[in-house]
Amino acid sequence: MITLGIEGTAHTLGVGVVDSEKKVLSNVLDMYRPPEGGLHPREAANHHADVVADIITRSVKEAGITLNDVDLISFSMGPGLGPCLRVAATAARSLSCRLGIPIIGVNHCIAHIEIGNATTGCTDPVLLYASGGNTQIIAYSDKRYRIFGETQDVGIGNMLDKLGRELGLGFYAGPTIEKLAKGGDRLLDLPYSVKGMDISFSGIMTAALALKDRGERLEDIAMSVQETAFGMLTEVTERAMAHVGKDEVLLGGGVAQNMRLREMVDTMAKERGAKMYCPDRRFCMDNGAMIAWLGNIMYNSGVRMSIEDTEVRQRFRTDEVSVTWR
Ligand code: ATP
Ligand code: FE2
Repeated sequence: MITLGIEGTAHTLGVGVVDSEKKVLSNVLDMYRPPEGGLHPREAANHHADVVADIITRSVKEAGITLNDVDLISFSMGPGLGPCLRVAATAARSLSCRLGIPIIGVNHCIAHIEIGNATTGCTDPVLLYASGGNTQIIAYSDKRYRIFGETQDVGIGNMLDKLGRELGLGFYAGPTIEKLAKGGDRLLDLPYSVKGMDISFSGIMTAALALKDRGERLEDIAMSVQETAFGMLTEVTERAMAHVGKDEVLLGGGVAQNMRLREMVDTMAKERGAKMYCPDRRFCMDNGAMIAWLGNIMYNSGVRMSIEDTEVRQRFRTDEVSVTWR
């Protein structure tokens, strides 16, 4: 069975094609980068509308198939920015109607987990999902992916991006902060806020900006932000692993591309006799292949949707989905 998946929750419009044997036939994406400032949902949606037809065509071509070979359409139904979600959903609905094939709307966060399971070989991990808009520690228990801990304010990537903007590092600052942090040699004091199993990042940002005003070096600020924020993530992930008794940890989301975060989680995992798994970069970031893959396994487990069921859901929570495929 061939599934075409369309991702469009935030800045990335991606289209991927997979088969039922976990083979990714193509994974094409185009990321919207605002000319200045942060991401405006309407502008990102306009970008998606401009590129979606072309990305579908390219993805199908790269997969070495034609649209008529596609058996199932899936798309990211949420969580995400309303205008962006609606572009992906509209494209998916029209393809489903035109080709006369079924459609499945999927939860974006669960897609990160399942593509990680499929491509890294882990089977029952605790997922540390660290992206721009989302920061959650998720694990499977009793027919649901349950959220064991999460950010109480912004996602970690949004914090890094916002901080980067204020520090003049440009948009999508995660990679720049990672590079700067390598030159840091003084750990500066920043609020380490773990509340039970939840975490909060906005205090770090405010404090980091104050450090800049005090004349601290950008390299030291970047390193201290990473050490503090990633330390919080690693601590909560470890506690979730101990609580649910799992010995695999999977990373997902754009921030999981950060080598320092990987190193910290890897050290934690090794110290407790567990193993860390990290998907290839192109599956960490938002992408269409993961949406296609989750659509495929949901469909094969018996899930069916009509066009009426495909309304987008901006606040679609991971634990709302009944996991029928495990
Ligand atoms: P979601 O819709 O799942 O919330 P998203 O739309 O923000 O995610 P992703 O591609 O998952 O998209 O993640 C993008 C985020 O990852 C950005 O905030 C970016 O700064 C951050 N990021 C990318 N590379 C790195 C890195 N090397 N270190 C830290 N952060 C990074
Ligand atoms: Fe994501």
